Amino acid sequence: MSQVGIFNGVDTLPPDALFDIKKRYTQDTRAHKVDLGIGAYRDNNGQPWVLPSVRRAEEKVHADKGYNHEYLPITGLPALTGGAARVIFGPEYAEDRTVSVQSISGTGALHIAAKFLAKFLPERTIYVSDPTWANHKAIFQLQGLNVASYPYWDAASKSLLLDGFLDSIDLAEEGSVFLLHACAHNPTGLDPTPEQWDAVLERLAARNHLALFDSAYQGFATGDLDRDALAVRRGVRRMASVSPVIVCQSFAKNVGMYGERVGCFHIVLPDQSSEVNSRVHGAVSSQLAKLIRSEVSNPPAYGAKIVGAILADKSLTAAWHADMVTMSSRIHAMRAALREKLVALGTPGTWDHIVEQCGMFSFTGLSPEMVRRLETQHAVYLVSSGRASIAGLNEGNVDHVARAIDEVVRHFYESKL
Ligand SMILES: Cc1ncc(COP(=O)(O)O)c(C=O)c1O
Repeated sequence: MSQVGIFNGVDTLPPDALFDIKKRYTQDTRAHKVDLGIGAYRDNNGQPWVLPSVRRAEEKVHADKGYNHEYLPITGLPALTGGAARVIFGPEYAEDRTVSVQSISGTGALHIAAKFLAKFLPERTIYVSDPTWANHKAIFQLQGLNVASYPYWDAASKSLLLDGFLDSIDLAEEGSVFLLHACAHNPTGLDPTPEQWDAVLERLAARNHLALFDSAYQGFATGDLDRDALAVRRGVRRMASVSPVIVCQSFAKNVGMYGERVGCFHIVLPDQSSEVNSRVHGAVSSQLAKLIRSEVSNPPAYGAKIVGAILADKSLTAAWHADMVTMSSRIHAMRAALREKLVALGTPGTWDHIVEQCGMFSFTGLSPEMVRRLETQHAVYLVSSGRASIAGLNEGNVDHVARAIDEVVRHFYESKL
């Protein structure tokens, strides 16, 4: 039978919401347009910022004799994977129990997690926060895994639904997988406090669940890479006698190498006898190598060499930490400026949450209708959920954004009176 029409019934899907915002923004000819959509750092002139530490590392890598474009090993560049493990695990790094492989940035690490879980634990449900990063569900569902959600954000009080979160942990079938944002939760900008993390980890341990940390913003919550690793480090310590811990690590944002796709996937095995640890370590490594070989053969080299160089050199690492402070401080200052201007304008509502939230984003509380009006009337682009990438604000546009928010809030506020 003819196969000519076998794809004729394939459904057309809508474009990706986030990348579609970028497209509309690019096509917009208004000079005062502002992009608060995609989470990418911009400098005070609204331009992408190549970190000074990255520039230095690039010079170093190119100056090294014998620079070439050879393939990397299947599991990636050891200087990257080892350095990355040290950055995220710090003093909790147990090398003999940790399998680390390079991935195609954070998304690729999550994809490896999904593939690995689909192969070895296909019956387990993956619990994600409500709300969460738009891509999480798709990544796990596309591998045939069941995805459910746990309460996280209370829109009315703009605070953490800790009780609901803990109840979900208690009620989930034993051995479920809980995806946790390591810091700077996307989209809410709200992280559990250290005490709340302890409560979460206690309950996860009590139910023998697996923790899967997504670390895409290390350094953006507090400006300090170590402080931002608190949840992962406590998680690794608490779960050492309970279950493996998975960590998906991205260097897209904190090294500003978005398009170079640098990331790592780690599994920290629980602490068993050294004989078992070594056998399982070898077995898991071999399975990951097979998976990566069939998917990408071997990971991209350029960004890995740059980040590897930063992590292997004390002075470059220190420069990177300083760059992190530059980025997070500027975002912090922009949060304060936006809040201050909204308060000065007397915009209906309260705006303290803008400065209380952390990381790249603010979950503004603006409705989808308000977001639409911001775009059409004021050329200010953000995600329909009301998530604004604060990194897109600068001294030149924050006033326009504040006035635009003021206008749309009043427009809908007054039409309700
Ligand atoms: C929560 C979260 N996880 C993972 C990622 C993956 O990012 P990338 O694949 O660019 O490293 C992102 C990117 O926006 C994110 O927000």
